[in-house]
Amino acid sequence: MIPPTRRHFVSVCAYFIILLIPSNADFWRQTQKITEFNSHVVPTRDGPVKTVIVPIMSPSTSKDPEKSGYATTKARGLADVVALESRIALVNGKAGRLLYRGYDIRDLARNASYEEVLCLLLDGDLPNQARLDEVKEQLRAALALPEGLWGVLKRMPESGSPMAMLRTAVSALGLFDEEAEDNSAEANYRKAIRIVARVPGIIAAIDRLRNGKEPVPPRMDCSHAHNFLYMLTGERPGDMAERAFDACLVLHAEHGLNASTFASRVIGATLSDIYSAVTGGIAALKGPLHGGANQEVMRMLLEIDRSGQRPADYVRAKLARRERIMGFGHRVYKTMDPRASILKDMAKGFGEEAGDLKWYAMSLEMMDVMEAEKGLYPNVDFFSASIYYTLGIAIDLYTPIFALSRTAGWSAHLLEQWSDNRLIRPKAAYAGPQEKHVLPVEERA
Ligand code: CMC
Repeated sequence: MIPPTRRHFVSVCAYFIILLIPSNADFWRQTQKITEFNSHVVPTRDGPVKTVIVPIMSPSTSKDPEKSGYATTKARGLADVVALESRIALVNGKAGRLLYRGYDIRDLARNASYEEVLCLLLDGDLPNQARLDEVKEQLRAALALPEGLWGVLKRMPESGSPMAMLRTAVSALGLFDEEAEDNSAEANYRKAIRIVARVPGIIAAIDRLRNGKEPVPPRMDCSHAHNFLYMLTGERPGDMAERAFDACLVLHAEHGLNASTFASRVIGATLSDIYSAVTGGIAALKGPLHGGANQEVMRMLLEIDRSGQRPADYVRAKLARRERIMGFGHRVYKTMDPRASILKDMAKGFGEEAGDLKWYAMSLEMMDVMEAEKGLYPNVDFFSASIYYTLGIAIDLYTPIFALSRTAGWSAHLLEQWSDNRLIRPKAAYAGPQEKHVLPVEERA
């Protein structure tokens, strides 16, 4: 039992642990890379020493960290926790900037195709013409879906959610890949290309089969964006639709250590296979707090339109009920998501071209209220929704399309993970009871 005076001292100290680390040690450099806590240099007899103050638990729960399993840091939802080092994307939440391998997303959206971005993410830099041609050829060679997968696709219940169907189909895809269990770097690259190549055909087939239509075989003479729209509708898309859709794919291809990418890397880090890891990524993306938000945005816009309410009134009423407005807010961006700015301009251009600026005008009104009332800005899911709607795409395909594009980012992260793998295994702060004893079943309440 700790005496009361010491107990008070312990409970204050328990909030912080002070690590004393030589200021010039390699360890300090490592630590500095992965933490952003307060630090100070203190002179000592042995030279300057860096002190790092790390919060370990709330003052109200000053338990023994070993007994309770408390980790050295505790961040709800892992906010701001740096879990690993990556060279793939920089998401700068304060400046509202997003870089893929050093290239600004605005530059890429304007000047690079999805195929070029795929090379950039997988290889580390933009391809020259020879490399681009090679990757396009690899994608073309992998377009056809394995025979066995058609049996799976045709047996799926029509009423199922396309995201659940896609998750099942990508998992099944692994069963028809002879290299599924080969975890060599070369085989993983080949499998990544197969996944990227085949997901568009899977999504298009899911939509056609559930609507009683025959799937459309892929073309061998067009872009990834064009091919998806063609397989979906059976018609060649116009230039503007292809360019807009391609830009949407570029914008969704990668986004650092978001929930689905983290899920994929956690699975990959166990040395499970790429199909399992991508399936896990799709499962995480499905949720409405992540990729599932885009379809909720369109449903909301349609509901506002049907009800005849002013968008501003609708938003205020929802906020008064403490409900979330989908397509707004972001864990990292505290200003406008740069992808949303690009999509906003595209939505305007699209509306002007179609002679209907209704969705755009409604969106702007909602944006103003969200900024004024909550200080929240649109994220990538807000304007992409009305763009896909204008393209005539079924609402429940918006999240599968997000996954279609993100196969590039997930694959790049998995290849990076496996190039220097370590099992990802954080700790939970145990807050449950201890020292309980098993009573005979007839004596339990
Ligand atoms: N509408 C209303 N209130 C919101 C919203 C929103 N969209 N987003 C956050 N808030 C409020 C939230 O209610 C909370 O308020 P309070 O402190 O009063 O309870 C506060 O802001 C902080 O919310 P949080 O959930 O702790 O913040 P977070 O960083 O964990 O959440 C988020 C990030 C994206 C989950 C959240 O902003 C959200 O739920 N947005 C709506 C769903 C959405 O659009 N998701 C797509 C995210 S971007 C693309 C992607 O990842 O797929």
